[in-house]
Amino acid sequence: MKKRQALGVAVAAAMLAVAGTAAAQTGKPYKVGFMLPYTGTYAALGNAIENGFKLYVEEQGGKLGGDPIEYVRVDDESDPAKATDNINKLIKRDQVDVVVGTVHSGVAMAMAKVAKDSGVLMIDPNAGADAVTGPMCAPNIFRSSFSNWQPAYAMGVEAAKRGYKNAVTITWKYAAGEESANGFKEAFTKGGGKVIKDLTLPFPNVEFQALLTEIASLKPDVVYTFFAGGGAVKFVKDYAAAGLNKSIPLVGAGFLTDGTLDAQGEAAQGLLTTLHYADGLTNAKDKAFRLAYAKAYKLQPDVYAMQGYDAAQILGAGLAAVKGDKSKKEAMIAAMEKARIDSPRGPFTLSKAHNPVQDIYLRKVVGKENVVQGVAVKALADPARGCRM
Ligand code: PHB
Repeated sequence: MKKRQALGVAVAAAMLAVAGTAAAQTGKPYKVGFMLPYTGTYAALGNAIENGFKLYVEEQGGKLGGDPIEYVRVDDESDPAKATDNINKLIKRDQVDVVVGTVHSGVAMAMAKVAKDSGVLMIDPNAGADAVTGPMCAPNIFRSSFSNWQPAYAMGVEAAKRGYKNAVTITWKYAAGEESANGFKEAFTKGGGKVIKDLTLPFPNVEFQALLTEIASLKPDVVYTFFAGGGAVKFVKDYAAAGLNKSIPLVGAGFLTDGTLDAQGEAAQGLLTTLHYADGLTNAKDKAFRLAYAKAYKLQPDVYAMQGYDAAQILGAGLAAVKGDKSKKEAMIAAMEKARIDSPRGPFTLSKAHNPVQDIYLRKVVGKENVVQGVAVKALADPARGCRM
């Protein structure tokens, strides 16, 4: 009996030892679940994020932390009503190790709730919802992009500096639009300006005409806007077609003109925006990234591609630290928190709430480029209001 017990212990110990080595660099794939919009007004953004993420992984030989990366994907349609079901499909059905998503703030908030409750690792490669790195912040939730507050606040600083006194904001009525308008208002008001009207329409509507007529009659010094993707293309064209670009300067968070200039053409010329990325940056990482992206996809990268690339870099930092042993979750998270990301936007670190602390550039549309004019606000950290971590 004693002998049998001893044998049992020995076998169990041997099995454990095998399992221990098996966990690290076994060649067992690490499963990434993309939850992104592949249809609708944000479809191009979702595709760019996936492309950027995969480019970084390919540059590492298809492996992070020594193990191959495997992908599954869900089209979230930028629909918050379907978000909880969609992320649960990835977690429960597909058993992913990390969820990478998404673009739309409303969808991202539903995802963050599930991530927080389930403990599954989530990397947000775009959606700016302030809550994700605010009240909903959690050790297992990271963001490689921005908070809605960040580029908006920087434009508020810039608009006040330019001497504009009153502004109208116009955006979609959902978290990203409203938080963007609020971030602008916070800095613009601090700088002595006043927002005289907030105009909104439901996401993803593009019937701008009545609102443009209202702007023409309000005659503000400046119009601040948040639109992105297909909606941004139409807004910039309609603003110009109404002749407003001749009389009232239009400024915005840089999504207005990122990845959209081919389609916006003449209507976008001269627009000033603020963003954590720009054309004409001179760092070596950006040069290499742009060349590699163009070669791989026959396309120029945009802010979304860059954020996808950096989401993979953040994950890579975590997996490298534990040599692919995903069971060492705390050590992995600690490494991700400490990482200094060599990003095409310029190097950045993460705040306590896991949001990039980053320079926000002022950009001007010249031809097909958002040409960098300088830094609007240096090393801007989201205030992470409501985050207890
Ligand atoms: C968002 O919903 O947070 C969002 C969407 C598109 C962007 C930026 C932010 O380009």
